[in-house]
Amino acid sequence: MAILVDDHVITKIGENDEMLSEYAGVEVIDIEGRAIIPGLVDSHAHLIWAGDRSREVGWKQQGMTYRQISEMGGGIAATVVPTRNASDSELAHLGIERMREALRNGTTHMEIKSGYGLDTKTELRLLEIAESISSVGRLPSLDLTWLGAHAAPPGGNITSYFEEILSEQLPAILDQGIARSADVFCEPGWFSIEQTEEIMKASKSGGLDLRLHIDEFADGGGGQLAADLGVQTADHAHYTSDEAREAMNSASVNCGFLPGTPYSMGEDYPPFSKCMDNNWVWSIATDFNPNCRTLSLPFISSLLVQRNEISPIATLAACTRNSAQTTPHPSGLIHGQIVEGGIANLNIVDGPWWESWCLQPGHSPFSATMIEGEMIYH
Ligand code: NIG
Ligand code: FE
Repeated sequence: MAILVDDHVITKIGENDEMLSEYAGVEVIDIEGRAIIPGLVDSHAHLIWAGDRSREVGWKQQGMTYRQISEMGGGIAATVVPTRNASDSELAHLGIERMREALRNGTTHMEIKSGYGLDTKTELRLLEIAESISSVGRLPSLDLTWLGAHAAPPGGNITSYFEEILSEQLPAILDQGIARSADVFCEPGWFSIEQTEEIMKASKSGGLDLRLHIDEFADGGGGQLAADLGVQTADHAHYTSDEAREAMNSASVNCGFLPGTPYSMGEDYPPFSKCMDNNWVWSIATDFNPNCRTLSLPFISSLLVQRNEISPIATLAACTRNSAQTTPHPSGLIHGQIVEGGIANLNIVDGPWWESWCLQPGHSPFSATMIEGEMIYH
């Protein structure tokens, strides 16, 4: 087959010979029998933060839980301090380097969140930096989410921070007008169902789209709330009950699995096959963050195919077509699919079989990525 690209749009897909004679004279890129898959869509990443929490690995291996590590001065708050102390240009540089790494691994679009400022000033600053790096070019496009409700700020508590979010932070975020969506870490021990509901409703009436982190470590009822609110995607959803999953699917809420997190924590994987068996819509994403430091969707995909017996085609849909449903491309064009009229975001797999994209977890399986019509050779 041949794919005709005009500027940044796929305008026609057809048989090689017919296309070559019909469009004689156009520039031809011969990919020499390599397979092509869509640009990958990472629908959940925490892109901009400073610092390093590698020492926590020893605590994890001693059997400490994520909660216990947070209480010992690790976890999210341990990333907030160096992030607040980093300059705008340091944070922008970190973001751009990470976007390059994502592109090298075939990601052409990312949904990214604030959430390591945890005060109004820094949350606004993180979104401003994210917006500034979204226009660099030849890098993945970005969809920006405000995650002020990620944890209690260092030295603070959830109850008073929750009040501050409603009275001060959310109004400032709405005024700023950069974030397209709001997200909350709804989890027993972090933001409660009631607090999450209030923040989500206030965000929605301010014009933001909604996404959630739910049931990462325990079934806290976040799945039913996600269904009731009709959020775009409810992510982690590791310990969500079957009833809540069913309710999510009926409410068109995507189930956004983040298998890199249990991988990093040495835990079991979420029940992908349950969604397959019930025909519930689901996606996968990297959840790139200081506790889960991969920007590679091919690696995440290998966890499904090579560790969880999920087929390559279902896995590919989960990080292209399905993930794209939750995070629109800024052009407004279809992405995550190779279709006429869609954005020209494509990955050239370095081999004849498309399945090899999920079978090389330690390095990039791509020889090139076309991003918005421009070929980047890796
Ligand atoms: O999605 N669990 C909440 N947020 C992130 C982790 C943040 C962190 O540990 O820094 C997540 O896994
Ligand atoms: Fe996350």
